[in-house]
Amino acid sequence: KQTWLTGITTSGTPHLGNYVGAIRPSVDASHDPERSGFYFLADYHALIKNQDPAMLRQSRQEISAAWLALGLNTERATFYRQSDIPEIMEMAWMLTCMTAKGLLNRAHAYKASVQDNVDNGAADPDKGITMGLFNYPVLMSADILIFKATHVPVGRDQTQHLEMARDIAQRFNHHYGDHLVLPQAVVDEHASVLAGLDGRKMSKSYGNTIPLFETAKKLRKSIMKIKTNSQEPGEPKDPEDNTVFEIYRAFATDEQVQVMRQAYADGIGWGDAKQQLFELVDGVLDEPRKRYDELMANPAQIDAVLALGAEKARDLSQPMLAELRRAVGVA
Ligand code: TYM
Repeated sequence: KQTWLTGITTSGTPHLGNYVGAIRPSVDASHDPERSGFYFLADYHALIKNQDPAMLRQSRQEISAAWLALGLNTERATFYRQSDIPEIMEMAWMLTCMTAKGLLNRAHAYKASVQDNVDNGAADPDKGITMGLFNYPVLMSADILIFKATHVPVGRDQTQHLEMARDIAQRFNHHYGDHLVLPQAVVDEHASVLAGLDGRKMSKSYGNTIPLFETAKKLRKSIMKIKTNSQEPGEPKDPEDNTVFEIYRAFATDEQVQVMRQAYADGIGWGDAKQQLFELVDGVLDEPRKRYDELMANPAQIDAVLALGAEKARDLSQPMLAELRRAVGVA
C-alpha cells in the first residue's frame, strides 16, 4: 500500500503553485482507499523565513482552510501541524548526526543565498544565513521518514530535498539497520514549476503569486497582470512560451488544451486569452472559495480538525520514535 505525504510551509498566503504542485495531488490521493495520506502544515519550517508570530498564525489558518476547502478527505487522511508532533524534532536530531555537512552545502536554497551574498559583495558568504536554512533538508527528511512515506507530491523545486531524504535514510539504514523507507517524489509533468506574474517560478519569496482565494474580481485583476510579450491580436502565438498558457494548461482538460492551442495558432489576443484563463480558474475555485470563507470565519472548526489529526499522527510517530531510540542506543 502506498503512503502519501506532503507539507506546505506556513510562511504566506497559499497560491496557485501550491495548489497544482501539492494540494491538488494530495486531495486526489486522500480520496483513494489504496493510498494512506499524511498532509501537514510545516510551521516549524516557516520560522526560517518568517519570524512574525501574527503572520505565521494567519498563514497557518489560510493554508489549513485552503486544504480543507479544496476537499481534503480528513476522515481517511491525517491532517496535522508539524509543531504538534514533537517526535519529528527528535528524529531530526538523529538524522542531523547522520548527515554529511557536504550534502547540505549542495542544497539549492542554501547555495542561492550564498550566491546572493557573493553577488552583493558581502565579506562573509554566509551573512544572514541561519542554521535553520542550512538544516532545512534534514528537518524535511524527518517529516517524511517518520511516517514511512512512499510517495511525496511536490513541485519540481522540492525534488532535490527528496533526493537528500533518500540519501539520509540510506545512510541511517546502512548504519543502524533497516528502519526507514526510501520515499519518491511525485511531480506533475505539466505543473512541475508553475510560473508567476513575472514569468519566474511562482513563489512567495518573489512576490509574484496569484493567491488561491481572493474575490473573483481580484483574481481577474491578478490574471490580467500576467506579463506577456507585445504581440498583437491576430498574430499567431507560441503556446509553449508564455505564462498565460502554462497556467491554463495546469487547470484545463486535454480537450480544452487542444482548443486553446488552436486559438493561439489563430492569433487570440492576450486580453482574450487572459479572460479565458480567468474563467477557467474561477470555475475551479468558485465553490471552494465559499467554503474557504466559511472556514476562515470559524477558526475553532479548523483547530478541531488539526487536533484530531495530531492525535492520529502521534499514534504512529510515537512508536516509530521509540523504535529509532532503541536503534541508536539511547533507549
Ligand atoms: P512550499 O511551502 O514552498 O511549497 C508547498 C508546495 O507547493 C509547491 N510549489 C509549487 N509547485 C509548482 N509550481 C510552483 N510555482 C510552486 N511553488 C510551490 C512546492 O513544490 C511544494 O510541494 N519544504 C517544503 C514544505 C515541506 C515539505 C515537507 C514538503 C516541509 N516538509 C515534507 C514535502 C514533504 C516547502 O517549503 O514547500
